[in-house]
Amino acid sequence: MTADPALLAELTTILGPKGLLTEAADIAPYVTDFRGRRSGTALAVLLPATVDEAAAAVRAVTARGIAVFPQGGNTGLCYGAVPQAGVVIGLKRMRRLRQADLHSGLLTVDAGMTLAEVHAEAEKLNLQFPLYLGSEGTAQIGGLIATNAGGTGVLRYGAMRDLVAGVELVLADGRVLSDLGGLRKNNTGYSMTQLVAGSEGTLGVITGAVLRLAPRMQSRADCWLGFASVDQALEVATRIRATFGALVEALEMIDRAEASYVVRHFPDIRMPLAALPDWSLMVQLASSRADDVLAPQLEALLAEAMEEGLIADAVIAQSEAQAENIWHFRHSVTEANKLTGVGVVLDTSVRPSEVAGFIADADRVAAARFPQAERAIVAHLADGNVHYILMFPREFWTALPDKEAMELEVERAIHDVAIAHGGSFSAEHGIGRKLTEEMARLVDPVRLDMMAGIKAVFDPQCLMNPGALLPPRG
Ligand code: FAD
Ligand code: LAC
Ligand code: ZN
Repeated sequence: MTADPALLAELTTILGPKGLLTEAADIAPYVTDFRGRRSGTALAVLLPATVDEAAAAVRAVTARGIAVFPQGGNTGLCYGAVPQAGVVIGLKRMRRLRQADLHSGLLTVDAGMTLAEVHAEAEKLNLQFPLYLGSEGTAQIGGLIATNAGGTGVLRYGAMRDLVAGVELVLADGRVLSDLGGLRKNNTGYSMTQLVAGSEGTLGVITGAVLRLAPRMQSRADCWLGFASVDQALEVATRIRATFGALVEALEMIDRAEASYVVRHFPDIRMPLAALPDWSLMVQLASSRADDVLAPQLEALLAEAMEEGLIADAVIAQSEAQAENIWHFRHSVTEANKLTGVGVVLDTSVRPSEVAGFIADADRVAAARFPQAERAIVAHLADGNVHYILMFPREFWTALPDKEAMELEVERAIHDVAIAHGGSFSAEHGIGRKLTEEMARLVDPVRLDMMAGIKAVFDPQCLMNPGALLPPRG
């Protein structure tokens, strides 16, 4: 399939030579997800440098009935940025800081800025942008808003939708919806920004955003704890949260298998405990006051829990470098998984009190139905968000006649366990093209109808990222 020469000429005029890719070799990086599992096709890749260019280019494309596939850093885990014909629109040329507002605690940015770039801008104000995940060097603000990304800061600061105070959105017809006022209070009807958070490119192209900043942490205490069971980890997590409340900056759990993948593939990252425990908790307490002495208080709590036999092993970081190592370890899991085999990564959530029961039941299902796979777990424990991972040997996976069908079979099996525990099948990664069938199977039809109605208002011809998020209407 090739693009109409008249369209390409118009796009060249709008975007300039740097803003349009049409050669197969140039397009190739934009049509496959980062793990190389799903591929699509695209007529061209549009790289606007301004919102006006983005709007004019989208209008030129959709006027011809051609679909637009927004793409950020292409780090999404649900194939939502993999195009299906049509054109890709990418924002890597839109990465300006538009405004830094210290007194309001807000940054206004082009949506192509990476998360790491936003962290750096926040630090210049002696503040932080408290969204933390492993793809920070590549994931873009537009993609993070579009997926309502989570990560390790959700417990204290909320997910991306809690951190975005406004968006600028190019609609399918080329109009620009600007909601960049950055007001804390503004009750003038439906919140467009909140509709756009989690919309996965189906409502328009996010070109700008206002982001809420938080105080920068001045004192901290970080530890790595080892446990024999999830119940013990949860008991200690609950005590830490009850004692330290809002000072708990992060609280993450991983199992032995997941820790072993990081150890195996990243020899520079240190495992602080002498031996790998069955279950680990990584905890960070942090305060914006320089004189908060957190480590001794944490040590007292841990000593009591150790005496009771709840904790098998514990290390409190003795330096900034040791603390950073813990979080470097945590944020390396996705890369380690990619190097280990083919991991089918689930993104379920249940109440924290249900986590142990969910894992035990999922283990029974997995052992019976997928004996070839090793189970690994990484969990945002306090959010009840368990990434239950079935790690298949690469040779086994390569030999499968229908990999997509196998992926769906695994997903269905584990999702059913989460649902039986009152949970959700998509906590923070979104739906993309991976889970649309699960949307149809598991989401209330009334909600699906309302979502389709909202979609039709923003994008009546269904030209913005068709095939993602919403199940096909039959
Ligand atoms: P892409 O992958 O390019 O796109 C994702 C979706 O957003 C697609 O549907 C796309 O169409 C849409 N989109 C992208 N840009 C725009 C835009 N400007 N306007 C409209 N729609 C757009 N996620 C978590 O929630 N928690 C984690 O802890 C976490 N850790 C990760 C660790 C690693 C190493 C990796 C690789 C990923 C991780 N993720 C995690 C996945 C996370 O969803 C993505 O990192 C991020 O949210 C998507 O940003 P992106 O710019 O790469 O978007
Ligand atoms: C994480 C990704 C998998 O929590 O969401 O590391
Ligand atoms: Zn996660």
